[in-house]
Parts: sequence; C-alpha cells; structure tokens
Amino acid sequence: MKPYDIDSFSSECTDDFVKRIASDLRTQYQNTLCKKQLFPWEPGCFVELDDIYIHLTIDIQIPKPCKPIKQKLSSYDEIFKPKEQTMRYVLEGRPGLGKTTLCAKIAHDWSTGKSALGHIKLLFVLQLGQINHDTNIEDAIKNQLLRSLEVGGTQKLRKAIQTLGSSVIIILDSLDEADPVLFEHKEYGSLLGAINYSEFTTNRILVTTRPWRLSDITQITSCSYTRLELQGFSRADIVAYVNKFFSHVPTDVSSIALGQRLVQYIQANKLLVDASVPILILQICWYWQKSGGKEDIPQRWSHLYDNIFNMMYDNLSSDLKRRVSKVMIALLM
Ligand SMILES: Nc1ncnc2c1ncn2[C@@H]1O[C@H](COP(=O)(O)OP(=O)(O)OP(=O)(O)O)[C@@H](O)[C@H]1O
Ligand SMILES: [Mg+2]
Repeated sequence: MKPYDIDSFSSECTDDFVKRIASDLRTQYQNTLCKKQLFPWEPGCFVELDDIYIHLTIDIQIPKPCKPIKQKLSSYDEIFKPKEQTMRYVLEGRPGLGKTTLCAKIAHDWSTGKSALGHIKLLFVLQLGQINHDTNIEDAIKNQLLRSLEVGGTQKLRKAIQTLGSSVIIILDSLDEADPVLFEHKEYGSLLGAINYSEFTTNRILVTTRPWRLSDITQITSCSYTRLELQGFSRADIVAYVNKFFSHVPTDVSSIALGQRLVQYIQANKLLVDASVPILILQICWYWQKSGGKEDIPQRWSHLYDNIFNMMYDNLSSDLKRRVSKVMIALLM
C-alpha cells in the first residue's frame, strides 16, 4: 500500500480518496480476515474462510408493546437493508458462537464482491479490545486497518465517512472486550458517542457483544437500536460443518469417511446434538481427526472436555508445556 498524500486531495471528500481507501481495505481484509486460523489453540494453520464457514442463523427482535417478536433473517445482508431506518445494530451472542467469524465473513464478502452489500462504499471492522477508551474511530481505523494513512489523513477519512452516510458500515466487534474505563466516563468519547448517535449519526454501526455487556449498552444509549441475536448451529448446520471440515480437495476418501462416521456418531448421540456452539463442534472435529476416529467420544461433556484438553496439552510444544505447567502450579499454590 502506498502512503496517502493528503495534500493532493482537496478538503472535500473526493471519489479518488474513497476508492483508494476501499481498495486498501479490500486488500487488508483479503490478507487477514479472509484467512481463518482454524484452531485457535494451534497457531499456524490458516484456511480460506469459505472453506470452513457455515451460515449462522440471526434472529432480529421487533419491538412490540407487550413483548418483542423474534424473526429469523435469511442472511446477514438483511441487517443492513437500505429501507431499515435505524442506523445502530447490536448483535449479541454467547462466547464462541461466531460473532467475530461473522464480522470476518461480512468483510470477506464485501471485499470479494460476493455479498448484497455492493452499494456499501466503505466497510470497517474494528476490534474493540484493541482500542483505548480515549481513541477515536478514525484513529482506530488507521491503527488497525489503514496503517499507511498519513498523520492528518484521519481528518479526511472522518469527513469522507460522514459524507458517505449510510453507504458506510462500521463494525465494532466485542464490546465485552472493550476497555472498562470506556463505560465509566459520563461524557462519552468518540467511541461511545458513535454508538450513542452523537457522532457518525448517518453511518450504519453494528456492535457485537457477549450478552452480559448488553445492559451497559442500554445505559449508554437512550436511542433506538436494532437488536439481533446470533443463534448456534442447527442440527443440519452441525452435519454441514462436519462434512465441510472433513471434505478434502483433491478427494480424500478416508477423510470423508472419517467425517461421515462422526456425523453418524453425532446423530446417534442426543448429548452431542445439543452441541450448537461452533467452537465446540470445532473441538470435537479436531479431537476426532487427531484420534483417527479410533477413540470413542464420551457421553458426558465433562469427560469429553477432559479428553480434548489432555489431547491439546499433548500437542503443545515443549516450551508451551513448560509455561502451562508453571501457570498450573502457580494457580494451585
Ligand atoms: N459460522 C461459522 N462457521 C464455521 N465455523 C465457525 C463459525 N462461527 C464460528 N466458527 C468457529 O468457532 C470459533 C469461535 O468463533 P468466534 O471467535 O467467531 O466466536 P465469538 O462469538 O466471537 O466468541 P467470543 O465471544 O469469545 O469473542 C471460530 O474460531 C471458528 O472456528
Ligand atoms: Mg469474538
């Protein structure tokens, strides 16, 4: 990426500037978010996001005087339908349910032109855990996504974002990981101001969070926002996930057969059918693959976890094993 020469742009938001930012964002997403580290506990194994991604169900809450009605969205694109009046969206989901992966998928599809978000000029995905409470959004964009933006270019970026209005989506992932100081300030900084409609009023902003942080959102914003709830994998999704995990190009019959045996196992076992959280299914697939399908999957979650963690520990490098042992000893003392 070439550095931006802000002097060559007028103070107005120019098409060239926006096109260049969009192009750099696309490159950035294709090099980062579009590649998925398959096993969070095993560094180094990256796959294309679409090689593992399974569509997740999102429920939208429609407020009613008595109690809200929940409706399923057929796709995440529907969140940002132009006719939708509200510009703030909060997506809640339990740990490991796929919030961050969904953000990556939205960025992936936008950057590869695969989604219905073709009308969106700029799409930013920011990790709230990496933003200080006193950092504003444009600086966070520079730090996390557009490092080659010249100092001072952030002002121009801010103007461009504001001028483009609803054709800009800003995704703030993991409010639960945000600096807690953020919630202690009475007068909102730029970040909270954005959530609270005092800044970036006309842009679309999606915040993701684990459920426990939801009450803080209601405290900081008195404005209406669209509430969305991420649902886990359905039974059909679990089967699709396992098949995708074990599918192999060029075709590897033994890997596919291994996957099919796991599917049979899951279908025969009521306990595992409840395993709707993607990260749990990922762990089961990993465990099954490592053991070559030889080990039985225990009927109880606690036993299953014992086995998975033992296997994870066995797979650690000797250096990591030493570090884990030190932590365990410190915890027990
Ligand atoms: N839609 C999906 N398709 C395939 N795999 C998924 C999907 N969603 C999540 N996963 C798997 O589950 C793992 C955990 O998902 P992710 O990190 O997105 O959850 P999260 O909701 O952001 O969790 P946290 O609350 O801890 O931030 C991912 O690393 C990925 O392997
Ligand atoms: Mg996350």
